[in-house]
Amino acid sequence: MSIRYDGKVAIVTGAGQGLGRRHAIELARRGAKVVVNDLGGGVDGSGSSSEAALKVVEEIESLGGEAISNGANVAQYDEVQAMVAQTMDQWGRVDILVNNAGILRDKSFSKCELSDFQLVMNVHLMGTVNCTKACWDIMREQCYGRIVVTTSCSGLYGQFGQANYGSAKMAVVGLMNTLVQEGHKYDIRVNALSPTAGTRMTESLMEESSFSLLSPETVTPAVLYMVSADAPNKTIICAGAGNYAIAKIIETEGIWLNPEDQTPEGIAANWTAISSAEGERQFASAEGQPLKFIAKAREGLGLTD
Ligand code: NAI
Repeated sequence: MSIRYDGKVAIVTGAGQGLGRRHAIELARRGAKVVVNDLGGGVDGSGSSSEAALKVVEEIESLGGEAISNGANVAQYDEVQAMVAQTMDQWGRVDILVNNAGILRDKSFSKCELSDFQLVMNVHLMGTVNCTKACWDIMREQCYGRIVVTTSCSGLYGQFGQANYGSAKMAVVGLMNTLVQEGHKYDIRVNALSPTAGTRMTESLMEESSFSLLSPETVTPAVLYMVSADAPNKTIICAGAGNYAIAKIIETEGIWLNPEDQTPEGIAANWTAISSAEGERQFASAEGQPLKFIAKAREGLGLTD
């Protein structure tokens, strides 16, 4: 059965090129009406131009799809609100939001200016917050919404020179974790994409042969799945070069230590058991951790009432 988005309205941020462009084109090819948002600046976030977004709209129209362009800077809430108002005026709903816009200001932490750190946080974290906030009540009222945040292996695993970017990319995972709970009642599902793709953002970091293997076309199917009616929820899909995997936040089972061992020395002596992978698990919500701790402490202390 083919997955389609007929009657659905999608906003894709940073869709003037790279991954966002591919997400927008494929959504439109499968029936969605698409807002192609792009500020049109450089990889470092400088400058702006409406050209790239307009070109993607033309491409979608030439394929028989429906799209409009928008030049909002996702870091500016008033511009984002105007984008969502434009979408509502045009099509009257917002079903899908793909938070994809992004920039880089790579520098080792010791050389990174705080102004660069702030800018990267503003675009990746606050850009995602702004767009999601502006669509949230509309999705609640519709009792339907599919949101994707774009994280990165730099945030999930760490990358030299990307303290700012990695922080912002991990922050959107925290945003997802809570929105999933608040959106559940309204069938709003929130998932994360961790892509690896040959785009202008990565061209200087990759060999030519890897660049072509890692085409955006190989990543977009993960986004299409995450914004479909039968989407998963609270899932981080990693995608690149035709590979699809899931990243998880897990906690080891750990151990309860006797009161006399609740010391740094006790932790050092029990490190193997504390860090053992046996019984490790994912928690559905924050309550999972305190509930586990209390149960294990009660058991250790022999409390029965
Ligand atoms: P890209 O540089 O080709 O595209 C990013 C687009 O976002 C550009 O068209 C740019 O104009 C737009 N943009 C930047 N700031 C904006 C703002 N404030 N408001 C609206 N639009 C803005 O980059 P690429 O590779 O397509 O990246 C897309 C997303 O995927 C980004 O969030 C990036 O951090 C993320 N990502 C990419 C990876 C890769 O391997 N290419 C790896 C991990 C994450």
